[in-house]
Amino acid sequence: MYRYLEAELAKINVPENRIRREVFGSPKDITLFPDYPKEKAGNVYRLTVRRGVHEDIIPAKANEPIAVAIERAGILFPTDCRSGACGFCRSRVISGEVYVSPENDGRRKEDKEVGYYHLCATYPLSDVTVKIAIV
Ligand code: FES
Repeated sequence: MYRYLEAELAKINVPENRIRREVFGSPKDITLFPDYPKEKAGNVYRLTVRRGVHEDIIPAKANEPIAVAIERAGILFPTDCRSGACGFCRSRVISGEVYVSPENDGRRKEDKEVGYYHLCATYPLSDVTVKIAIV
């Protein structure tokens, strides 16, 4: 339904920042999105998490959000909606390749341009380094 409505709203020039969506959490299976690189689905990557002067290196599965990997490692990390909408988990990706859920990409245009991601909707496709907020 969202895909249909987004196309219809675009036809009548409703700006993206005027459209609100209900949030449902991260997709049950991110690998089902047509543009997800399925050959990466079973991989586990090395995730470097920087916060202030601390740095942890933890495993991160390609098919789950980076925020989940961080929480599993016991690292305190701000989240709220877990759907890519609120920006509480907004963090910088320093290096590495990532995939963003097309239905949960609530980032501002400026954030996309300078490398900020909502880690609850971002998946690693290689070894990745992120810088998160200190809680
Ligand atoms: S927790 Fe809301 S955007 Fe990630």
